[in-house]
Amino acid sequence: MTRKVTKAIFPVAGLGTRFLPATKSIPKEIMTLVDRPLIQYAIDEARAAGIEEFIFVTSRGKGALEDYFDHAHELESSLKKSGKTELLDILRSTNMDSGAIAYVRQHKALGLGHAVWCARRLVGDEPFAVILTDDVIMGEPPCLQQMIEAYQETGGSMVATMEVPADKTKAYGVLDVAEDMGAIVRAQGMVEKPKENPPSNLAVIGRYILAPTVLNNLNKLKQGSGGEIQLTDAIADEIAEGRDVFGLRFRGQRFDCGSKAGFLQATVAFGLARDDLKGEFADYLSDVLAMRKAAE
Ligand code: G1P
Repeated sequence: MTRKVTKAIFPVAGLGTRFLPATKSIPKEIMTLVDRPLIQYAIDEARAAGIEEFIFVTSRGKGALEDYFDHAHELESSLKKSGKTELLDILRSTNMDSGAIAYVRQHKALGLGHAVWCARRLVGDEPFAVILTDDVIMGEPPCLQQMIEAYQETGGSMVATMEVPADKTKAYGVLDVAEDMGAIVRAQGMVEKPKENPPSNLAVIGRYILAPTVLNNLNKLKQGSGGEIQLTDAIADEIAEGRDVFGLRFRGQRFDCGSKAGFLQATVAFGLARDDLKGEFADYLSDVLAMRKAAE
């Protein structure tokens, strides 16, 4: 029997410089896909997977992100008074239980592994999830839920994974596969951003279910790729110490919302998936494409 996963870490301390000037005054996690901030997608996915405690690893300048989770009492009562029940429902669906959210500060940008380590005391001695909000995944059931289901079978630790073109492996953590069981693979190693000879083309995508021993590995605060403390290295240590690590080829489409092109693609995909927008939006997109073709 695996222990229930009820805690998730959201490393949100990054500066988001790739989205300057927008990120001069708003945290990148508040940037919106259609009408929901990136962080809301991550929270919704975590809730669907049964997460009850949400741990944000923040940094300076993330005040707007903390405020986002306050209940908007005045707005709620004015919507209630004016009978705008649909908007009220949308607003209320974002409300979090009191005490469900905790914030810890990462005082220095020392890498993803360090960010996760900063939350160690809040996690304690139980398995936990990590969600990287830049990786937005459209999937049913949502990716983390798929992982929880798979993890209930396998135990150990698990990362989300997908195949990427060979020339793209250097941008990811990459799995060294011991056994390929189809949707699930067993890893015999993991390398962060391999410059050459990637062990496979299976990239780690930003969803993790980790055994608490990963936090002990992070205690070493060892520098890895790019001089940063890497989560990948702490997971690789699990394997070296004889514990199981799996990858799940999740069903769904992943968007790299840490890049401008990925963000635009996600906007199109999520716009087209919305009943209230897809008609008009699809027409507009086909007009744009037709005009481009005519101009060629
Ligand atoms: C991080 C992880 C990397 C993973 C990637 C997924 O890298 O370190 O292992 O493959 O997220 O998006 P980053 O993109 O933050 O450099």
